[in-house]
Amino acid sequence: MCGIVGAVGDLGPGQELVPSLVDGLRVLEYRGYDSAGVAVEIDGTLATCCRAGRLANLEESLAAEQLGPAASAASAGIGHTRWATHGPPTDGNAHPHMDSARRVAVVHNGIIENYAALRDELEAAGVTLVSDTDTEVLAHLVGSRLEAGEDLASAVAGTLRRARGYYAVAFISPSCPGLIVCARKGPPLALATWAADDSGRGAGAYLASDVLGLLPHGRQVVYLEDGDLALLEAGRVEVRGLDGKVRRREACTVEWEAEDAGLGDWPHYMLKEIHEQPDVLAQTTFERIREEAGDVVFEGNQWSDESLAGIERVQVIACGTALHAGIIGAYMVEELARVPVDVDFASEFRYRDPVLAPGTLALAVSQSGETADTLAALRLAQELGGRGGAICNVVGSTLVREVEEVILTHAGPEIGVASTKAFTAQVAAAFLLSLRLGRARGALAARTARELLGELRGLRPCMERLLSGGLLEEIRACAARFGESKGFLFLGRGVNYPVALEGALKLKEIAYVHAEGYPAGEMKHGPIALVEPGMTILAINSPGRVAEKVRSNIEQVKARGGEVISVGADAASHAIADAVLAVPECPELLSPLLNVVPLQLFAYEVARLKGCDIDKPRNLAKSVTVE
Ligand code: F6R
Repeated sequence: MCGIVGAVGDLGPGQELVPSLVDGLRVLEYRGYDSAGVAVEIDGTLATCCRAGRLANLEESLAAEQLGPAASAASAGIGHTRWATHGPPTDGNAHPHMDSARRVAVVHNGIIENYAALRDELEAAGVTLVSDTDTEVLAHLVGSRLEAGEDLASAVAGTLRRARGYYAVAFISPSCPGLIVCARKGPPLALATWAADDSGRGAGAYLASDVLGLLPHGRQVVYLEDGDLALLEAGRVEVRGLDGKVRRREACTVEWEAEDAGLGDWPHYMLKEIHEQPDVLAQTTFERIREEAGDVVFEGNQWSDESLAGIERVQVIACGTALHAGIIGAYMVEELARVPVDVDFASEFRYRDPVLAPGTLALAVSQSGETADTLAALRLAQELGGRGGAICNVVGSTLVREVEEVILTHAGPEIGVASTKAFTAQVAAAFLLSLRLGRARGALAARTARELLGELRGLRPCMERLLSGGLLEEIRACAARFGESKGFLFLGRGVNYPVALEGALKLKEIAYVHAEGYPAGEMKHGPIALVEPGMTILAINSPGRVAEKVRSNIEQVKARGGEVISVGADAASHAIADAVLAVPECPELLSPLLNVVPLQLFAYEVARLKGCDIDKPRNLAKSVTVE
C-alpha cells in the first residue's frame, strides 16, 4: 500500500542515485502502481519528476531528462510508488510533494487523518495547495518550520506531532544536503547503512518500505518502530523519538537474497511462485519434523510443552488469503489437538466487542506481518488477555516483533499481488502447530503423528508431479472451455471449504470475474438458485468423511444444468463431472495443500486468456497497511 524509498551517499561502483531509486521502486511496485515519482537534492535545489500510471511512465520521463542534466550529481533522493487513497491517480497527486518554496520534498505511505483541518489552517495562512492528497500538508508544515529556522529533523518531528493517522514518511531538503529524515507510525520502514568498503564502494544508506528494496544494498537491516524518527546519512543512522530523545535500534540480518526477488525466465511472479510451492513446503516443514518422535520442534524451543500448557482456546485472526489458511488451520487444530478454535476477519474482530476466554492463543496469520487490520486485531486480543502468536513470512516485521511466539513460513519473498506460495506455507505451518499442540496436550498419539508427518513429507514430490505433468494442459483446456462462463461457484466441504474460498478469491482478484466460494452443503440454502446452463461449478473433493456428501452436491448441480469441474482426488466425483482436474490422493486433512494448486493455475490461465495484468491486478495492493 504505497512503497517509499530513499538513498544517500555511494550506492556502489557505477550506481547512480536516481536509477537506484527507480530500481527500489520497481521492487516495491507491487505495493501500489497508480503513480510513481522521485525527488532529488542537487546543488542546493530540489528537482522532482512524477508520473501517473506505472513506473515505466516515470522511467520514460527520466530518460527524457526531466530531472535535468545534473541529476547524476544528486546527493540524496526519495521515491514513491502509489496506491491512491486521497485523490485520483494523476501526475499532480503523485508523490513526492513539496512546499510552495521548494524547501522540502516528502514521500508518504499511510493516511493523515486530520489533513482536512491542517489544510484549512494552511489555506487560512495563505498557502496554496496544489494536490488532492492528504500528504501535501506535511510538506507545507515542514517547509514553514524550516523557514522559521528549525533544522529538518526538528521540523519533521514538530509536524508529525500534529499529524493524526498513520505514516511511513521520508523528507529531503536542500537546507540539509546528504540527509534524509524518515519516520514511522504504522506502515513499515526499514533502513540499511554501510561504511566505505574494500570493493571501492563509499559510505551510503538506503531506506525502503520493506526489506526487498534493501536487498541489493545489504542484509543488515534496521526496522524502525512506531514513533521512531531517523536521521539517515551516508554510513550512519540515528534513531530518535518525536521528542528528540535518542533510541537504540539493533540491526538484524535478513535471510533473503536479492535473486529470490527476481522474475528469472518466468512470465509472471504469480506463476513463478506457484511453481516454488514444492520447495516452500519443504522449507517450511522439513527441518522441523522429528519423524521418529512423531513430533515437531520449532526454533528457539518456541511452542514447547510448557508454553502450550495453558492454551485452552485459539482465536485465529487474519485477512484475505491468510484468513483462508487460518480457517484450514482451525480444522487442523480441532482435529489433531481437540482445542476449540474461533476464526475471524481481523477487520471485524477489531470493531466488535470480542470476548476472549482465559487461556486463549490469539493466532495472527499474515504473509507480510504488516497488514493494518491484522495488527490492530492482534493488539486488541492481547489487551483482552490473549497470548499473541503468529504465522508469518517476514522476519523482523511488525507482527513478528509484537508476538510472544512465531512460526516463520520460509516461503521467501512473495511479489505477485495474488498470494499463492505464502498460502501453502501458512497451511503447512498451521499443520505443524496443530500437530505440536496435539502432542503437547496428549490428544494425538505418536503413531498417528508419525504417519501424518510421513504423508506431509510425501506431498513435495506429489506437488512437483502436479506442476510438471499433464495437469497444466487440462487446466489450459478448462480455462479455454469455461473461462467465459457467466459465473463461477466454488464448492468445498470440511477442510476443503476454505480451499473453495481461496479458489474463488484468486479468480476474482486476477481475472476480474464473479466467483463465489461456498460450503457445498450450504448451496441448497440459496446459491443453488444461480445454477443454470452457463454457470461453472468447481467442486473440490477428496476422499474422506464428506466425499459422498459433496458427490451429492455435484449431482444436484448437474440436475440443474450447471457444468462441473471436479477438483481433487475423489475418483467418483471425477466420474460424474464435465471436466476433471485430478490431484494425487493424500490424507483429507492435508488435501488443501494439493487441491489449491489447480485452482491457482486455473485463475492464472483464465486471467492470461483475458489479457489481465496478472501480477498487478487493478485496484489491489499487496501489503494493506491502511484500514
Ligand atoms: C490475496 C491476498 C490478500 C492477502 C491479505 C493479507 O491473494 O494476497 O488477500 O492475503 O491482504 O495479507 P497478509 O498475509 O500480508 O496479512
